[in-house]
Amino acid sequence: MTPAKPARPRAKRPARAAPAPHGVVPTIGTIPLPGSPKPHPELGLGLWALGRWSAEDEARTKATIGRAFELGFRWFDTAEVYGSGRSERILGDVLARAAGGAPDAFVVTKVSWEHLRPSQVRASLVNSLERLGRPSVDLYLVHAPDPHVPLSGTMEALEALWAEGKIGAIGVSNFGVGELEAAAGYLQKARLVVNQVRYNLFDRDEAEPVREYCARHGILIEAYTPLARGLLHGRYLEGKRVPAEIRRFAARLFDPGRLPELQARARDLSDLAQEAHVPMASLALHWLRRQGAVPVVGASEPGQIDSNLEAWAHRPTDAVLDRADAIARGDRA
Ligand SMILES: NC(=O)c1ccc[n+]([C@@H]2O[C@H](COP(=O)([O-])OP(=O)(O)OC[C@H]3O[C@@H](n4cnc5c(N)ncnc54)[C@H](OP(=O)(O)O)[C@@H]3O)[C@@H](O)[C@H]2O)c1
Repeated sequence: MTPAKPARPRAKRPARAAPAPHGVVPTIGTIPLPGSPKPHPELGLGLWALGRWSAEDEARTKATIGRAFELGFRWFDTAEVYGSGRSERILGDVLARAAGGAPDAFVVTKVSWEHLRPSQVRASLVNSLERLGRPSVDLYLVHAPDPHVPLSGTMEALEALWAEGKIGAIGVSNFGVGELEAAAGYLQKARLVVNQVRYNLFDRDEAEPVREYCARHGILIEAYTPLARGLLHGRYLEGKRVPAEIRRFAARLFDPGRLPELQARARDLSDLAQEAHVPMASLALHWLRRQGAVPVVGASEPGQIDSNLEAWAHRPTDAVLDRADAIARGDRA
C-alpha cells in the first residue's frame, strides 16, 4: 500500500499576474492537479450557506454565485448534505444560465459520511449530477470518514467513477494522517489529490500534521473557514453579540472562553492590515496560500464576493505575513 506519489503542485498564474511586493494579483490562478483534466483554481466559493438560507433568499443566493462567476471565480464547492441537495440544485441552475453552461467551472461536491458503502457512493454521485445538471464533476470528495464503513470499498467505488470519467479527480475532507494513508493506498491508478480541512490563521495547530503530510505527498489542502466566519474580515470586533447561528456552526471560534482573545488578536491583525495598506482578509487568504493551501471562502451576498476578491488581489509582503502569523499565534511583541 503506497501513499499518494510525491509531486508538489506548483501554482501557475497568467504571466501578467506575477505579484510584486504589495502587488495586485488581478486574476485567480490555477494549480495543476495530477490525473485531472482541469487545473485547480487557487480561490473558491463555498456554498454551504446555501443550505442554511430560507427559500426567500434564493434570489440573493443566485446573485451571489452569479457575481462570483462574473468576477472570475470558477471553483464552486458544494455537497449533497448542504440544504439536502438544495445547494447543488441552485448552483446547477446558475451555471446552466452562464455562457455555454459554464464548461470552465471547477465543480466540487461531496458524498456524505452516511453514504460511504460502494453502492451508496455511486447513487449519491448520480443524484448530485442530476441536481447539478452536469455529466461529471471536477472533483468528488468524501465529506468525512465513517469509522464503521471500510474505506477500501469507498475508494474503489470512487476509482471506478473516475475511470468512467464521471469525476475528474478524487479527494477527501476532514481526514487525518492515518486515514489519508489508508485512502491513498486503496487507489490503484487514480491519485488522492485533495484533502479539504478547516484551516485558518486561528485554527491551525490541529491541521499542521495533516498539512505536512499532504505537502510531502502532493495532496492539495483546500482550506475551509478561511476567514474564521468573518472574524478575519474584521466582523464581530466591536462587541456586538455574535448571532446564535454563527456561534452554533463555528463553536470553536466563538467559544466564550476563547472569543475575547481571538477578538484582541483580530484587532491587532486589523491594525497590521491598515499599516500595510491591504484589506484585512488579504492577510488570512495569502497566509493560507503561502502555507500551500487554497482557500474556499463562504459568502452570503454579492458584495462579499467583491470584497473577497479585492482582498485576494492584494498580496501582502512576506514580512507582513510573518507578522500576521505571529499575531494570530498570540505573540503581540
Ligand atoms: N468539508 C467540510 O466539512 C466543510 C465544513 C465547513 C465549510 N466547508 C466549505 O467551506 C466553505 C467556506 O466555509 P465558511 O463559510 O465556514 O468560511 P468563511 O469564509 O470563514 O466564512 C464565511 C462567512 O464569513 C462572512 N464573510 C465572508 N466574506 C465576507 C466579507 N467580504 N465581509 C464580511 N463578512 C464576510 C460571511 O458571514 P455571513 O454569511 O454571516 O455574512 C460568510 O458566510 C463552505 O461554504 C463550504 O463550502 C466545508
